[in-house]
Amino acid sequence: MALAPSSARPYHLIVFGASGFTGQFVVEEVGRSSAEGPDGSVKWAVAGRSRARLERVLERAAETLSRPELKEEVDIIVADVEDPDSLAAMCKQGVLILNCVGPYRFYGEPVVKACVENGAHCVDICGEPQFLEGMQLSYHSQAAEKGVYVVGSCGFDSIPADMGVLYTRDQFKGTLTAVESFLTASAGPEGACIHDGTWQSAIYGLADSGKLRSLRKKFGYKPLPVVGTKIKRRSALFYSDEIQQYSVPFMGADPSVVKRTQRFLTEEHNKTPVQYGAYAGVGGISSVVKLLIAGMMFWFFVKFSFGRNLLIKFPEFFSFGFFSKEGPTRKQMEDSSFRFAFFGEGYTEGQDPSQGKPNAKIRTLVQGPEPGYVATPIAMVQAAITMLNEPGSLPKKGGVYTPGAAFANTTFIDRLHKHGIQFSVLEVS
Ligand SMILES: NC(=O)c1ccc[n+]([C@@H]2O[C@H](COP(=O)([O-])OP(=O)(O)OC[C@H]3O[C@@H](n4cnc5c(N)ncnc54)[C@H](OP(=O)(O)O)[C@@H]3O)[C@@H](O)[C@H]2O)c1
Repeated sequence: MALAPSSARPYHLIVFGASGFTGQFVVEEVGRSSAEGPDGSVKWAVAGRSRARLERVLERAAETLSRPELKEEVDIIVADVEDPDSLAAMCKQGVLILNCVGPYRFYGEPVVKACVENGAHCVDICGEPQFLEGMQLSYHSQAAEKGVYVVGSCGFDSIPADMGVLYTRDQFKGTLTAVESFLTASAGPEGACIHDGTWQSAIYGLADSGKLRSLRKKFGYKPLPVVGTKIKRRSALFYSDEIQQYSVPFMGADPSVVKRTQRFLTEEHNKTPVQYGAYAGVGGISSVVKLLIAGMMFWFFVKFSFGRNLLIKFPEFFSFGFFSKEGPTRKQMEDSSFRFAFFGEGYTEGQDPSQGKPNAKIRTLVQGPEPGYVATPIAMVQAAITMLNEPGSLPKKGGVYTPGAAFANTTFIDRLHKHGIQFSVLEVS
């Protein structure tokens, strides 16, 4: 499948779900990056179920970017997940769909199906392992036959983690065998906040987590070989000397995505699998207490439909204001940032990884702006720009891929770096 527009397929990119909280920032980011297309431009459209809402999004983006011409230049496509014909019509017009319609477990599959059937490549910002792995199971072969690339989790879940592990491996002189990552986020005086869309994805994801285990059995995978010392799983709450704060295992999609990438690189490219552990810093003791209370309420209420309804109705109450129906303000977003610290170990060049313990360490960092609505649009749009510009560096065949599998041989990391998601080596020992 070509990655260039034609008269029948006029748009390089279509932002689907452009009127959503995240979608509006993806629209702005495409507006900012539109000169980075293959011929110095990107022809694009916005799509969603309400023309009026899409018009307002374009008006706001034109104002924010001081580009009044956007309103005329960017076309509007009306498409609804509930209407397969409208999805097919949308997918026939675009080379690549940027799908921002979530929770993906409810709305994602018809979009993947329409993309595969109608020859449009697709990038999403899903952080739900069940959906991501389910799409791989159901659509990988069909996508490969059609030459369509479906690349999931191209937002904050899980670009920093997945590309961070690959960056650490590439910077390590020898054979990298294990990496632990520690995520910390910081906010300004007005605090930080995440929009309700992600809260809902987390509620339904956790409520349904049993199904993920049975889904994984269907792949019939053998465990990946362990090279080097087996990585230890840390406890549910611990003090991390690495980042000098209390930490917990990271609950998002990162471990699933990184593991799928490592499997792909091991099985398809004969690379040494890197073991991975993902953790998030919580802060000091008062943050730990808040997290424990919010966590216990969440685990309890998420099990019953009545409890889920309460969680969905009152996100602010149940999350101590960390999730809200309004989402963060621009000021909160400007003042927020993230740091992903990676601690890797392995064997120096010339050392046999099957003999003895790892003898070298590396510490790398991926850092960037506010994760949900600044870093996520940058990552998603740069993923799309990479696909349009570097089709020859993607995996040979189409399919359903993780970011690491899709972009391992591209300049994606350099592109992210230029746009403020920065990768660096801190220490090699
Ligand atoms: N990976 C990450 O780090 C990251 C970061 C941010 C967000 N996300 C994910 O992105 C997703 C969206 O989050 P959000 O906060 O932007 O949610 P949101 O504001 O609720 O946006 C949902 C979007 O879906 C659209 N939609 C709903 N039903 C539809 C249908 N039947 N047909 C067409 N469009 C439909 C909505 O359209 P209307 O405007 O017409 O209602 C809206 O545009 C969530 O799954 C979230 O977890 C991930």
